[in-house]
Amino acid sequence: MQRLSSPEIILALDVNTLEEAEKFVDKLYPKIKFFKVGSHLFTAYGPKIIELLHKKGAEVFLDLKYFDIPNTVAQAVAAAVRLRVKMLTLHISGGQEMLKAAVESAKEQSRVLKNPPSLLIGVTVLTSQKTNPREVLKLAKQAIACGLDGVVCSAQEGIILRRKIKNNFIMVTPGIRPDEFERDDQKRITTVSQAVKAGSDFLVIGRPILKADYPLLTTEALLGDLSRSAVGH
Ligand code: C5P
Repeated sequence: MQRLSSPEIILALDVNTLEEAEKFVDKLYPKIKFFKVGSHLFTAYGPKIIELLHKKGAEVFLDLKYFDIPNTVAQAVAAAVRLRVKMLTLHISGGQEMLKAAVESAKEQSRVLKNPPSLLIGVTVLTSQKTNPREVLKLAKQAIACGLDGVVCSAQEGIILRRKIKNNFIMVTPGIRPDEFERDDQKRITTVSQAVKAGSDFLVIGRPILKADYPLLTTEALLGDLSRSAVGH
């Protein structure tokens, strides 16, 4: 998988209602073009939220972190590909058989639909948990070997992954916190510039924007950090 030429911000739409989600999209699109739908919003509204985002012209990252027996994950992945999401997540710790079944299923479904394939992104260790870079590296190598397009990890391990894994892969980094912002439940946090330096392609940002007094101004400031870091990189 070809990496992006410049990193991009994804807004994590962790809100309660469709109306709230739409308000953020209307305010921030097209400054932000990519929105993450997680279990919170998807459990409440299902594919409706994805249709809404596509209607607005936005790209969708479906973050349901699949972890189940291979057949169930393969079916879920096929259903997500049918929703034409650009990226989706699954837990690498689900094992090689599960990962390979997911990759095959995504390929087959996009071939049938004549769709560009959804990118399969493996979750290493949640950024709300403590871990060590060795564990994250082991999981990331396993994901890439099974044919996944990329991994989710914190920028703290990202730098090691980029050094140790020679293949091209997509790196998605949550746990981004501007210096002055509280950590919430995140343990392995980094700033925008640290994530870019670590080689991140997509920076997933939720509460620093969702809880801001002025989400548009905060987004513009983060995008400014992003382009300055990308130039300096
Ligand atoms: O609000 P905050 O910026 O912490 O949001 C981070 C988002 O990234 C949340 O939606 C969370 O589910 C997601 N995420 C994460 N750690 C991972 C994978 C996804 O925080 N390893």
